[in-house]
Amino acid sequence: MTEKMYVQRKIGHATLTLTQGDITKESVDAIVNAANSSLMGGGGVDGAIHRAGGPKILEDCKRIVSKIGSLPTGEAVITTGGNLKACKVIHTVGPIWYGGNQNEPALLENAYRNSLALAKEEGIRTVAFPSISTGAYRFPIEKASDVALSTVIEFLREHPLDEVRFVLFSPKDFETYNKVLNRILPSPE
Ligand code: APR
Repeated sequence: MTEKMYVQRKIGHATLTLTQGDITKESVDAIVNAANSSLMGGGGVDGAIHRAGGPKILEDCKRIVSKIGSLPTGEAVITTGGNLKACKVIHTVGPIWYGGNQNEPALLENAYRNSLALAKEEGIRTVAFPSISTGAYRFPIEKASDVALSTVIEFLREHPLDEVRFVLFSPKDFETYNKVLNRILPSPE
């Protein structure tokens, strides 16, 4: 078990952070929600964000749904952060895991990349992600963390936001992300 569950790595001018905690408490420009296509809320981190952020978030979601119908897997939209410390919430829909032969890794990559592209477009400099798709959507976390970290690192190399943070809910999830990060980006020391 890593004593301090907090790791930071530099990716060019950007910082990649792993931390363990509740994403609704993060003081960043935007937090990302692992939503479903209806954008009407749910359990897990989706439920936590709507509960902590209050009804303004759902009001924005309803306005978006009235225009686009539903949010396709891998796409991202942005709403107010409501009562959250974060100013904005970027909602994305991760893939449900059906065994790995339904394009799940590519769809998960899209969810991260489209969320980051939207953040950049909106002038957002600090973003926090949960571990998308690894709860109710049953995406195996080892594989999901590899897709998540690789996609974020590649994006930061081209578009240096100030910081991208992964906020892992459980110590076990933190350990997995930390192990995979060290494999992808062997620590300098
Ligand atoms: N902060 C950070 N991470 C959290 C929090 C929180 N407050 N609450 C849960 N998580 C973690 C879970 O432990 C898991 O690691 O978020 C990760 C994603 O799990 P889910 O929230 O279940 O999301 P996902 O697997 O993408 O399934 C999405 O679940 O809640 C519904 O409406 C949502 O239908 C959608 C589906």
